[in-house]
Amino acid sequence: MQLATEQDSEWIAAIQSGANLPLWKPNSTSWVLEKKAFAIWQAAASECELLSVAVEPAERGKGFAKTLIEYCCSELAKLGVEKFFLEVRESNIAAISLYKKMGFKKISERKKYYANEEAAIVMELNRQK
Ligand SMILES: CC(C)(COP(=O)(O)OP(=O)(O)OC[C@H]1O[C@@H](n2cnc3c(N)ncnc32)[C@H](O)[C@@H]1OP(=O)(O)O)[C@@H](O)C(=O)NCCC(=O)NCCS
Repeated sequence: MQLATEQDSEWIAAIQSGANLPLWKPNSTSWVLEKKAFAIWQAAASECELLSVAVEPAERGKGFAKTLIEYCCSELAKLGVEKFFLEVRESNIAAISLYKKMGFKKISERKKYYANEEAAIVMELNRQK
């Protein structure tokens, strides 16, 4: 696992456009796993938001997203992050199942959040002691 650099922007953008995800924001905290998966976060003090996570289509279902997010959460915890938030399309069963498996809980719903009027599910992982 390593921090993402500008050199990763091309392959990250390719996966993002294939998965219909927002484009990488270079000033966020981002990690990559062997050009197979990336996770992009925005941290502010003790809270952090997962902006985007994706795995190369051919590499899905092998545990890479789970491994990467667990790694990111422990690195961010070292920086003082206690609460992790994310938004996910209500139709994204794979991602919702992944997040639940990692301990994220649904805390609210934003109706008609996306351009196609799909709702966003807001989830939180609280690692506060
Ligand atoms: C969502 C995504 C990141 C999952 O990555 P992945 O590496 O395939 O996930 P993992 O192999 O680590 O799976 C971990 C858990 O997630 C869940 N999961 C993953 N893919 C799933 C699927 N297709 N259907 C249902 N559950 C799924 C399972 O609970 C799985 O645990 P299990 O293997 O013990 O059953 C991947 O499908 C992806 O890149 N999707 C496109 C981008 C996207 O939608 N990102 C999220 C929104 S920003």
